[in-house]
Amino acid sequence: MEPETASVVDHYTRNNLMDRIRSALTRAGHDPDQPTIEMLAELDHLHGGGFATTEVQVEMAEIPRGCHILDAGCGIGGPSRYLAGVHDCSVTAIDLTPEYIDVAGRLNEQVGLADKISLRVGSVTDLPYENESFDVVLCQNVTMNVADKDAMFKEAFRVLKPGGVFTFTHLAEGPNAPPIYPLPWALTPEVSFLETPEKIFAKLSAAGFESIQDMTSQARDKAGGGPQPGTIGAAPAMGDDMPVRTGNSAKSIQEGRLVAMMVVALRPS
Ligand SMILES: C[S@@+](CC[C@H](N)C(=O)[O-])C[C@H]1O[C@@H](n2cnc3c(N)ncnc32)[C@H](O)[C@@H]1O
Repeated sequence: MEPETASVVDHYTRNNLMDRIRSALTRAGHDPDQPTIEMLAELDHLHGGGFATTEVQVEMAEIPRGCHILDAGCGIGGPSRYLAGVHDCSVTAIDLTPEYIDVAGRLNEQVGLADKISLRVGSVTDLPYENESFDVVLCQNVTMNVADKDAMFKEAFRVLKPGGVFTFTHLAEGPNAPPIYPLPWALTPEVSFLETPEKIFAKLSAAGFESIQDMTSQARDKAGGGPQPGTIGAAPAMGDDMPVRTGNSAKSIQEGRLVAMMVVALRPS
């Protein structure tokens, strides 16, 4: 296990997450006993742009309906539920944070998707799956917490079928680094591992990926202004100071301290 793992788990653990989600849904006028995928999408896509980004990434990476997909670092499972419930995929999902996996399972039950999404606790750097298991590996805003990207990219490559697609969103180190902390994925630099876009591309190539593209500008045009105003957002899952942290992230991007990436890469056939 990597030394930073405990700190990453600590960063994401709320200890009372299900209660926080139920309260947030109630405050937003929803019935927490009868959530829908759409209702939960207001709070369970834990990355910049929220659900809108997931929708665009699925389109940019041309994720086929009905495919077998690994949601690597799945958080509380919003993207998994969208892929299983709306895009008809068979989803396997893994995350380092036990509380997130527990809550993801309970929400999957509530929306009737428990049999289409297989969940477990584990690390993207040491995946507990057979070689060539998946058509697609999706990974959204996880890489920033992963020090050993060589291991992570090798694992993604190993579990993909030949011709499979690896797609991930990442915040890389910009020319005017360092970014402004606290950030959504790290309150301090100790659990933040960004690297430049060039280094990320080089590591993908070294792992064997080809046709590596950064689709960020096309995605931005399609996603428009990000999450719908008035939606709940990621604060229930990620902490009440999220407005400050997302503000720092946006300012760091504007100032060239961070570079937003949406990568699509292929394991050659
Ligand atoms: C910002 S959240 C994104 C969650 C989800 N991908 C989403 O977009 O809704 C980052 C997630 O990465 C997970 N994570 C961080 N390092 C990981 C690792 N080495 N292996 C698996 N998951 C990891 C965290 O537990 C957390 O759930």
